[in-house]
Amino acid sequence: MGRQQETSAVYNMTGGDGPDSYYRNSIFQRTVVEDAMKAVKKDIEERLEFPIDNIPKTFRVADFGCCVGPNTFVAMQSIIEAVGLKYDDKSEFEVLFNDHANNDFNTLFRNLPSAFPFSSQETIFCAGVPGDFHGRVLPRASLHLGYSSYALQWLSKNPDQVADPNSPAWNKDSIYCDGHSPQVVKAYSAQFQSDLQNFLNARAQEIVGGGLLIFTIPGVPNGALCSQNYHGLFYGTLGSCLQDMANEGLISQEKVEAFNIPMYYPPIQELEAFLQENADFSLERIYAIPSVTLEDVHSRANMEPTIASVTSIVSAIVRAIMEVVIKQHIGEDSVEPVFERFSVKFSQNYHKLAEMQTPTNISVVLKRKALI
Ligand SMILES: C[S@@+](CC[C@H](N)C(=O)[O-])C[C@H]1O[C@@H](n2cnc3c(N)ncnc32)[C@H](O)[C@@H]1O
Repeated sequence: MGRQQETSAVYNMTGGDGPDSYYRNSIFQRTVVEDAMKAVKKDIEERLEFPIDNIPKTFRVADFGCCVGPNTFVAMQSIIEAVGLKYDDKSEFEVLFNDHANNDFNTLFRNLPSAFPFSSQETIFCAGVPGDFHGRVLPRASLHLGYSSYALQWLSKNPDQVADPNSPAWNKDSIYCDGHSPQVVKAYSAQFQSDLQNFLNARAQEIVGGGLLIFTIPGVPNGALCSQNYHGLFYGTLGSCLQDMANEGLISQEKVEAFNIPMYYPPIQELEAFLQENADFSLERIYAIPSVTLEDVHSRANMEPTIASVTSIVSAIVRAIMEVVIKQHIGEDSVEPVFERFSVKFSQNYHKLAEMQTPTNISVVLKRKALI
């Protein structure tokens, strides 16, 4: 298959399966996947619809923004089980793992659980699909179920205005869309809607009529600011570490002012209104998954939350996500000093967690309208 040309800024998560890797440090995202899957199984049972004489013999499912694992395995396994139950286990499955071309696919395939064998004796086959998911990555009308988790908040780029000192949307004092400036929010929201539209246009060509597109994205409750939730505390703390380094003369003030994380967390109402307008998919369901607290994350890992353990988990998660972005925009030499400061500052700010909202994770099910 020809590789989709990468057009967006490419910020992959930290590869490998070593101590700083996304593979070892994505337990928070994993709890979201586990919680989302409860409803997804029911959605597959009730909403996936193919004509009785046209049940796919090879059922194709793709994870857009799969990363290096292991969370994608949890999701793909649950989806296959649910489809197998619905169609009496008669299908063969093809599981397509999509991410940017520089995602560490080697780690992904090296760690595939035994349920995903390469052997042709089995009924589940796997393949990697490198490329930007804002464009086409699969053949026309070839996919039965598209899935994505914690990936669509990543934008193809920052809106130009947020790094422009002459724009009212200049985001000088923050490194992310914290929600405080309406002009900054407007610029990020427009970029998000344009990217999501491109994603939906591409999936509309790839997914067959009656097929589903299921995704989870972190968002904010209507009327709330991103800075009021855990993620805001994480990115706010990171921004203040960068500012400290600029104050100490270790990095330039201009670099910090120009640095923005290309991410947008939509309010659920905004996302719902946008999806309702889509001509190719019907919106079957949208809801906020019950929030996952850091205590939940700890208890699922059989750990007692302490300041040290929460700081260690949060620092590792933020590093696995942000290391490449920091490397590209601030410089490789800054990675260690930034994250050393992050751990110290986060433990000092630990008490603020109690005042923060737990993140809102929005789960969406769309159905491809039948092609006439
Ligand atoms: C936070 S990770 C989530 C991974 C996994 N879905 C999970 O739940 O743990 C986001 C992933 O989306 C990928 N991603 C972001 N933008 C993308 C794009 N435009 N095309 C393909 N992959 C993208 C990133 O490379 C990264 O691997």
